[in-house]
Amino acid sequence: MHAGHTVRVAMTHSATRLISPDTFAALTGNPVVVDVFDEPEPGQIAHIRLAQEADLILIAPATAHTLARLALGLADDMLTTIALATHAPILIAPAMNPAMWTHPATQAHVQTLQARGVEFIDPTYGIMACGDEGWGKIADTTVIVQAVQQCLQRTQDLRGVRMLITAGPTYEPIDPVRFVGNRSSGKMGYAVAEAARAHGAEVTLITGPTALTPPAGVKVVRVQTAQQMLEAVQEALDACDVFIATAAVADYRPERPLSSKRKRNSQHWTLRMVANPDILGTVAQRKGNRIVVGFAAETDKALQHAQEKLQRKNLDLIAVNDVLEPGSGFEVDTNRLTLIYADGRIEPLPLMSKRECGERLIQAVVSLLHSRQTRREA
Ligand code: PMT
Repeated sequence: MHAGHTVRVAMTHSATRLISPDTFAALTGNPVVVDVFDEPEPGQIAHIRLAQEADLILIAPATAHTLARLALGLADDMLTTIALATHAPILIAPAMNPAMWTHPATQAHVQTLQARGVEFIDPTYGIMACGDEGWGKIADTTVIVQAVQQCLQRTQDLRGVRMLITAGPTYEPIDPVRFVGNRSSGKMGYAVAEAARAHGAEVTLITGPTALTPPAGVKVVRVQTAQQMLEAVQEALDACDVFIATAAVADYRPERPLSSKRKRNSQHWTLRMVANPDILGTVAQRKGNRIVVGFAAETDKALQHAQEKLQRKNLDLIAVNDVLEPGSGFEVDTNRLTLIYADGRIEPLPLMSKRECGERLIQAVVSLLHSRQTRREA
């Protein structure tokens, strides 16, 4: 029944009205926790220990109320406290009345949770306990078990793999109040970091200035300029197996930033710019056995320019986006990537959320690592 896994059960107070905790204790062979102050193992803080030890958290069946509490980050019982304290992937199988499931409030909570990387096993259509018919029945047990197995498999893919990811823009100072920057929000790079983490990688995210909350479980290094990003990358490079350059690094910076604010005292102002270091190019030169992945932000002849960058920078893979295409590139929540591999394969992806783009890119990295491993063993 456990398929080789240790199963620990945390129940809400409402759930205990339907099934006794003793039943789950007998089935799993482990104590069941309900109240946030339950401490079945002396000397251990149960909610932290359970949160940290879990490889995966399945919440099934999840009510509308629990979804709302999770989306808001409430921690008012054992279940929600564990969910807030964990870095493990969370899978949710909702079950509720169709009107409650389709209610805009519930759907907004689902979207909030999905944006944080929580995965849903969608409810099915059927007749509810109350007699209503519609979408809201919990998914079949076999579907839930399969989703758990797939999720666990995925979280092992990159276990032990150290990933270094750059994200966001760089800000190049002109004077103490002005800078040269670009429109990168960091969304794409953070999504790649989140997907890598969900596959079990040890992730270091080197990020330019963004307004985003970094994904849980990721080491974050914050920088402002291209030069600082290069230094941070060089410092972390030895301890990395895969490098992914998602950042929109400013190619040029003002040659001499002013030490005090420039006054408005003339009609013209000419800034002399000098080239910034090419971070990806520098990494590719010291590539060793690493997988090196670049991005290409293009406005014309996207494939041609990306192929040229792939070869010139000696990359294993490049993800190209046409930043003029609606729904793609800077700032938006979606992107359309085309993956180009060093062996010439081209994989166009549809327009999808940046989180899904990150997932597909990480799957591509997993397959590159696997084929490298297979070649080594042959
Ligand atoms: O952050 P978002 O708002 O979500 O937007 C996402 C994105 C459009 C920034 C992202 O999808 C993207 O395309 N990132 C790469 C942006 C870029 O700088 O592209 P490029 O074609 O100019 O550079 C090619 C590659 O070299 C990139 O991997 C870049 O990180 C790297 N580079 C570029 C210049 C430089 N000085 N050093 C670098 O390492």
